[in-house]
Amino acid sequence: MTQDLPEVGPWAREKLNGLRAYLSAYMTILSKHAPLKTVYVDAFAAAGRAVVRKKEHDDPTIHLDLGDEARDEDSREVIDGSPRVALEIDPPFEHYVFIETDERRLAELKELEAQYGATRKIAVRSGDCNTYLTTKLLTVLGSDSRWRGVVFLDPFGMQVPWTTIKRLADTKQVEVFINFPVGMAIQRLLPRSAQFTKNARAKLDLYFGDPSWYDEVYVSEPGLFEPGVRKRTDAGDRLLNWYRGRLKTAFGHVSTARLITNSKGGHLYYLVFAGPNPTGAKIASYVLGPARPRASSETGHDRR
Ligand SMILES: C[S@@+](CC[C@H](N)C(=O)[O-])C[C@H]1O[C@@H](n2cnc3c(N)ncnc32)[C@H](O)[C@@H]1O
Repeated sequence: MTQDLPEVGPWAREKLNGLRAYLSAYMTILSKHAPLKTVYVDAFAAAGRAVVRKKEHDDPTIHLDLGDEARDEDSREVIDGSPRVALEIDPPFEHYVFIETDERRLAELKELEAQYGATRKIAVRSGDCNTYLTTKLLTVLGSDSRWRGVVFLDPFGMQVPWTTIKRLADTKQVEVFINFPVGMAIQRLLPRSAQFTKNARAKLDLYFGDPSWYDEVYVSEPGLFEPGVRKRTDAGDRLLNWYRGRLKTAFGHVSTARLITNSKGGHLYYLVFAGPNPTGAKIASYVLGPARPRASSETGHDRR
């Protein structure tokens, strides 16, 4: 029943096309290295299929009541989500791991086991992906140096702390495809006033793994009576490039970043790749497209 499937904006196609192109190139290369074992981990797997929203909204994290027309089965386009995109890659990965917290989506993922189980090795795991990635996955990778893999990190928000990214990087066996939600979750936590609650600041520190994100976003300015703090107009771009720099230091190689926007041009998130292999980064940069120079007025994207 498509009523049970998550709804996505039309821009999800762009994300999935990038993922498909990268995974396809990855497996074409890796399958020629016979002793290697390959795993695809979809850490935020969702349901394996999704319904494309007809009506547009800036924020994919907000569930919309779309009314009867949009729920009409005939007018709903169902697309493959990232798990199915990965399962259809030819040659396939040797193993697939799909992680999800939502019970209904987990039930949909279980159906993939039935549908693809004869030809694909699939493990569906419930719960917070950070736990799986920093325990079970590390154990498996550490048990055999022939393991190689791609981890797709596609959250709605800031659910992947830097500690998880760093531990994946330290394996030197996996590449990551990351949704960096700068236009969505991150900007929302960065007020013009630079007045943070303790919780918001702690959340940002945890996500970035280093408090110097603050200097990318805010700058001190002399005031008439006392010095003030101003939010930079290009804070979004600065954060992205700083984060990319951290990925490069951790993994060795990082791609250009692809900006995903809604159809009104509103910034949603960037897709970016990092991995231990220069060829991987080259392919990902090709797939994600050149870094496009942008005016700073276009990049601050402060909705406050
Ligand atoms: C943006 S959707 C993923 C879309 C999917 N990658 C695709 O392209 O088809 C994010 C999903 O992550 C799930 N989720 C949220 N927090 C999670 C966590 N800590 N661990 C695993 N899954 C989580 C949500 O229930 C949601 O289904």
